[in-house]
Amino acid sequence: MTDGITDRYVAAIDQGTTSSRCIIFNQDGATVAVDQREHRQIFPKPGWVEHDAEEIWAKVQAVVAGALAKAGLRADQLAALGITNQRETTVLWDRSTGKPVHNAVVWQDTRTAQLCHELGGTDGQDRFREATGLPLASYFSGPKVAWLLDNVPGLRARAEAGEIAFGTVDSWLIWKLTGGTDGGVHVTDVTNAGRTMLMNLHTLQWDTAILSAMRVPEAVLPEIRPSAEVYGTAVGQLRGVPVAAALGDQQAAVFGQTCYRVGEAKNTYGTGSFLLLNTGQRPVPSKSGLLTTLGYQLGGEAPVYCLEGSIAITGALVQWFRDQLGIIDSADEIEDLAARVPDNGGAYIVPAFSGLFAPYWRSDARGVITGLTGYVTKAHLARAVLEATSWQTREVVDAMYQDSGVQITALKVDGGMTVNNLLMQHQADVLGVPVIRPVVAETTCLGAAYAAGLATGVWADLDELAAHWKRDTEWTPRMDGPTREREYGNWRRAVERSFGWHE
Ligand code: G3P
Repeated sequence: MTDGITDRYVAAIDQGTTSSRCIIFNQDGATVAVDQREHRQIFPKPGWVEHDAEEIWAKVQAVVAGALAKAGLRADQLAALGITNQRETTVLWDRSTGKPVHNAVVWQDTRTAQLCHELGGTDGQDRFREATGLPLASYFSGPKVAWLLDNVPGLRARAEAGEIAFGTVDSWLIWKLTGGTDGGVHVTDVTNAGRTMLMNLHTLQWDTAILSAMRVPEAVLPEIRPSAEVYGTAVGQLRGVPVAAALGDQQAAVFGQTCYRVGEAKNTYGTGSFLLLNTGQRPVPSKSGLLTTLGYQLGGEAPVYCLEGSIAITGALVQWFRDQLGIIDSADEIEDLAARVPDNGGAYIVPAFSGLFAPYWRSDARGVITGLTGYVTKAHLARAVLEATSWQTREVVDAMYQDSGVQITALKVDGGMTVNNLLMQHQADVLGVPVIRPVVAETTCLGAAYAAGLATGVWADLDELAAHWKRDTEWTPRMDGPTREREYGNWRRAVERSFGWHE
């Protein structure tokens, strides 16, 4: 327990796809203060998504100040700072001015689809899968770097001359936090590096053969470090605070959900949903459309790997239903609307807005609504929107079983959509196992804080962290098996209709 005098606080910055957040935790892992700000989504062309990295840095500074003020704390009362971030999003900046040379290219951006197709050559989508655990897809950073070097005039020559730095958002923030042009450290952690498609999964080093195939010069790359380790000391408003952890947001959620044992899994419901299963110290290759990815690596220890089912669009479909169709005014209205009817009335929505990620990896897929009849109302469509999340999750859970032989017995969940009881009940129904949400549902920030606190001695070990985890709500399956499997068949037929629209 804490006594108020010897309290040690740990801050986490979660730089996500739509907003930046800073949460300060106490030594019990309880939330002390939260501040959050959104940043602009820039859509220059259909399928293109960009962020302004300078705006992100400004918002991050603002939320750090906001959280400290709300907590009534000074920076020197923070024992450590951890970073967690939207993964794959690609920033290139000038090492001497500290200015980004282009907007960040976001993970959802599909501009590199053709480049990825060409990179596959005769080997196809799995050309780099053994080395990286990933299929060639526009999702990952390496091809985004290549695209920028080829499309920003003069950039390739400057990159080769060592003038340009590349980073995922963790690198960009750590460089800024530790001094930027005034001596900032240029590092990334294994979980983020593993999403560039440039890191070898087995050696945890940049893969020179892939760098050369993608024509990415080594001179732009950050140093790859463990996820929990002191990288440097912050300057500016956080002067003196050790920057002691970095984890991709989904891996941070694994860490915050304390999935430290082989076979433990979590699903985070945000813009998309990302289900990760701890497979231990061995990378498990996927034959079923999952990613083999780093889970975390504590300083001085062996890495822990995961299998990941990445679903691009889940919460973003609710936003679309609200903003583009205008059927609801706020996202939380969808639950009441869906609850007006007992089922989906035969309608299924496959939200393949930028292709389908796991387990299909089809860039030619586009969204479809199937099963429409005159009977279908907006309430049925609201149900179909929510069910799209649980059916996509069922698909990745099935793929997990095929790849690992691990049949999950319960699913730990977190993220914004877990406030939706109807969705969580349907999730339990279609998986046939309980769905469990912890008390601290901000597991992404919590995981980054835990890793930073471990690296600085705030917490002793993983057992101490696991003891913090407390169950809040559990949904148990109610749907009968035949109904579940019949509806799952309908969903899969709907998915097939989404293929073949766009290359
Ligand atoms: O891989 C993309 C993922 O890291 C984005 O997560 O929560 O920012 O939508 P989120």
